[in-house]
Amino acid sequence: MERIVFINGVYLEENNAKISIFDRGLLFSDSVYEVTAVIDNKLIDFPAHVLRLKKSLNELKIKNTFDEKYLLEIHRNLLNKNPFSNKEGLIYMQVTRGSTERDFLINNSNIEPNIFAFTQEKILTETIYKDNGLKIITIEDLRWQRKDIKTTQLLFASLAKTEAHEKGADDAWLIDEEKYINEGTSNNAYIIDNDNNIITRNLSNKLLPGITRQTILEVAKKLKLTVNERPFTIDEAISANEAFISSASTLIAPVVKINNNIIGNGKIGPITGILRETYIKISKNQSI
Ligand code: PDD
Repeated sequence: MERIVFINGVYLEENNAKISIFDRGLLFSDSVYEVTAVIDNKLIDFPAHVLRLKKSLNELKIKNTFDEKYLLEIHRNLLNKNPFSNKEGLIYMQVTRGSTERDFLINNSNIEPNIFAFTQEKILTETIYKDNGLKIITIEDLRWQRKDIKTTQLLFASLAKTEAHEKGADDAWLIDEEKYINEGTSNNAYIIDNDNNIITRNLSNKLLPGITRQTILEVAKKLKLTVNERPFTIDEAISANEAFISSASTLIAPVVKINNNIIGNGKIGPITGILRETYIKISKNQSI
């Protein structure tokens, strides 16, 4: 059965949803997006996703004509029209600057944004990697300097993840010129040191301010765990007790190998386990 997707105010079967070849998202990656997790048929951290979308649109000076109520209605309608078999999955939403004659010069006055969204079935809570963990390699981060904006310029990240798979790993952590870890290809990166401190890079233009990250930091506080928001190196990561990643599409996933070095005992670490369970519980309570 075809999915029902949303595009510019209407709901259509997926094969009937079309966008112009002159869309600036297609021609210039001139567009931003959000991915929201759904657990028990409810949206996780939705207001925070809307806030970040608004920030991304502001940064790129794309017209923002969408309020939270309108966006929530789209998400709810998509969930109703495409029930997830497992009550879990993702909703992807993208806003492009719009369609106009191809020109490097941006002229917002004669252009209206295109907005579309669709559901993706995905098991989020009971995944295999939750116990087995992920293998990570590190790759030099050659993305642009505004990684804090959630744009659809995802080619480098996509190539890096593919390279990781070709090398027998699951994903890559992207490192800066000083060998500090920025983040994963589509997730934030964390280690836990020998004193049980959670370490994750402080927010800057080098990484995306993950919504899952934001909630994890609140959950860690509730659990009385110490979080150090600072850069960490590959060497530190390799000698860490535990490591994990976070994103709307993986929630919290343990990392058990970095560049072929086993982390901890090669299984999900105890703190990562508690953090994951508590994160899911709290997020479900706050979901809408
Ligand atoms: N990716 N860093 C990058 C580069 C990301 O693309 C993502 C999310 C994150 C985590 O952000 P959040 O916790 O808000 O999902 C960090 C989404 C899931 C994607 O591109 O599919």
